[in-house]
Amino acid sequence: ERTSVAIVGAGPAGLLLARLLDRAGVDTVVLESRDRAYVEQRQRAGILEQATVDALRAAGAGDRMDREGLPHDGIELRFDRRAHRVDFPALTGGRGVMVYAQTEVVKDLIALRLADGGPLLFDAEVRAVTGADTDRPVVHYCHEGRERTLHCDYVVGCDGFHGVVRNAVPDAVRTTYERVYPYSWLGILAEAPPVYDELIYAHSARGFALASMRSPSVSRLYLQVPNGTDPADWPDDRIWDELDARFAVDAEPALKLERGPVTAKSVLPMRSHVTEPMRYGRVLLAGDAAHIVPPTGAKGLNLAAADVIVLARALTAWHATGSTAGLDTYSDTCLRRVWRAEHFSYFMTTTLHTDPAQSPFDTRLQLAQLDRVAHSPHAAAELAENYTGLPIPD
Ligand code: FAD
Ligand code: DHB
Repeated sequence: ERTSVAIVGAGPAGLLLARLLDRAGVDTVVLESRDRAYVEQRQRAGILEQATVDALRAAGAGDRMDREGLPHDGIELRFDRRAHRVDFPALTGGRGVMVYAQTEVVKDLIALRLADGGPLLFDAEVRAVTGADTDRPVVHYCHEGRERTLHCDYVVGCDGFHGVVRNAVPDAVRTTYERVYPYSWLGILAEAPPVYDELIYAHSARGFALASMRSPSVSRLYLQVPNGTDPADWPDDRIWDELDARFAVDAEPALKLERGPVTAKSVLPMRSHVTEPMRYGRVLLAGDAAHIVPPTGAKGLNLAAADVIVLARALTAWHATGSTAGLDTYSDTCLRRVWRAEHFSYFMTTTLHTDPAQSPFDTRLQLAQLDRVAHSPHAAAELAENYTGLPIPD
C-alpha cells in the first residue's frame, strides 16, 4: 500500500487534516485504532475558538455546527461570591466562541470523509513508524488481525497523548516539558437545561467548578476533586449539591442548577506537556500527540486544529511545488503559539483551582488576580483574546 500522507489517528486533528488535504488534492490514508462508535462518542471538549469555527466553515464542514452550535459572546467568572461577565466581542474587536461538542465535530468530519470515499480505516492500530529520516517512511499497523505496511512521503502523528508516532523521534532529539496538577475534574453530562446562558468558571472556597452545556437541554458540569477520586464516591445528589454550593453568589441566593438524569460521569486528571520538536525528518506531530494542556482554558481541541491548519498549508505547498519551506518552519511556528496556550491554560488553571497545599496568602493572590480581570479592561482583554484564540500565523 502507498499514499502521499499517512495520518495516524481520527480525532479532531487527524480528521481535519485529512479534510484539508483532500480539498487540496493531496492523497491521504487515515488509520484509527478504535472503532467508529467509540471515536464518535468519546466525551471531551465543548468550545470552539473563532479560528476553529472559521476553519471548519472554510473546509465545508460547518453546516451542522452553524445550525446546532451555540455562539457565545462571553463567560462569567465567579469568585468571592460575586459574578463578573467578560464580554468577548467588546474586548477583542468582535470575536467569540461556539459551543459545539468535539463529538459532533468528529461525527461531521467522519461523515464527510466517508462520503468523499477517502480511505479511513477503523480498528487499524499503528505499531511503529520506521524510516523517519529517509525519503520513504513506512507505517506498520495491524488491521483485521493482519500486520500491514503503508508506504508514504510523510507521516503525521495525530494519535493523541498515548500515541506511538512520537516514538519515531529519537530520544536524543526529543525534549519533553511537563507539569502535573494536584487536582482532577469530575465531569458529568446531564439531561437538564443549562440555567445560565453562558459558561461559568467559579473560584470558591470549596474548589473550582465549571458550568458548560452541550445543547439547550443538556448540561455539562465539572467539579475540582482530589487526584485519585473514584466517581463512585460521588452519587448524583452529592454532585448537584456541591455544584450549587460552589456557584453560590450573594446577589442571587435562589438560583440553583436544574437537576436531571446524569448520563455520564468520569474523573479527568490534568497535565501540561510539550514535546519538542514537532517534526523529525518525514514525521510530523500534531495536536495532543505533541502537547497537552489542562482543560480550564478550553484550548486542547483548538490547538490541535491550529496545528493541522498550519500543517495542511505546508503539505499543500510541498505537493504543488516541491518546496519544503513550510514543513521546515512547521515546528517553530506551532510551538510559539502552543507555548502561549500552555501559559494561558496554566494561568486559568492555577488562578481558579485550590491547590491542597495553598496558603491563605496564595488564595488572596488568586482573588486579587481575578479582581484585576473583573475591573481592568486591559486584564479582561488579555483573557478574552486568549480565550477566543490567538491568530493562526500565515
Ligand atoms: P485525540 O482526540 O486524542 O485523537 C487521537 C486519535 O488517535 C484517537 O482517536 C485515538 O484512538 C487514535 N490513536 C491513538 N493511538 C493510535 C495508534 N497507535 N494507531 C492508530 N490510532 C491511534 N479539551 C478541552 O478543551 N475541554 C475539555 O473538556 C476536554 N476534556 C478532555 C477529556 C479527556 C478525557 C481528554 C483525554 C481530553 C480532553 N480535552 C479537552 C482535550 C481535547 O479533547 C484534545 O485536546 C483533543 O481531543 C485533541 O485532538 P487530537 O486529534 O490531537 O487527539
Ligand atoms: C468545556 C470544557 C472545558 O475545558 C472548558 O474550559 C469549557 C467547556 C466543555 O466540555 O463544555
